[in-house]
Amino acid sequence: MPEIQFQGSSYSLDENENLLDGLLRQHARAPYSCRAGVCHSCMLRVTAGSVPAEAQSLLTPEQVKKGYILACQTRITEDLSLTLPTRDEVPGILTELKTISSTEVSIKVSTRLPFDVSIGEYITLVSDERLEASYPVTGCSEDLQTLACSITRSAGGSPFSAWIHSRARTGDHLIVIKKG
Ligand code: FES
Repeated sequence: MPEIQFQGSSYSLDENENLLDGLLRQHARAPYSCRAGVCHSCMLRVTAGSVPAEAQSLLTPEQVKKGYILACQTRITEDLSLTLPTRDEVPGILTELKTISSTEVSIKVSTRLPFDVSIGEYITLVSDERLEASYPVTGCSEDLQTLACSITRSAGGSPFSAWIHSRARTGDHLIVIKKG
């Protein structure tokens, strides 16, 4: 039976059991939402053991390089040690999208874990469609779980800003990455 080390506890999973199901069955506090590979809430980082390929098929090359997996997309065949994502990269949800002018929108993103960032620092936002761009933080809640940014659209601007200005909706999922 594969053994999973997660947040200081050990969990025995059945061979080929879904990782998220196996952790939740044993009352582990693993984050999740859609269970379908869409929201990225269940993203964990592998710290020991081999990363199952299908567990990374919906992630960006940068996330793959860092050893992230989606627990809801992972079937367990061998022992793994896992941690929650670091505070440098967290899943979030677009909670506000306000038109300021024809070329500027302000957005708010709520993150599932506190994200230690200050006003003026740059963050990278990654959409479900793998569009990404970096912006300075213009506001941050006291609990570090809501960030604000202002996004300008210009001719020849990034596909991410075009997406925010035309197709993004509140409730859309984003990954928030702290710029190194
Ligand atoms: S729970 Fe949404 S991607 Fe896994």
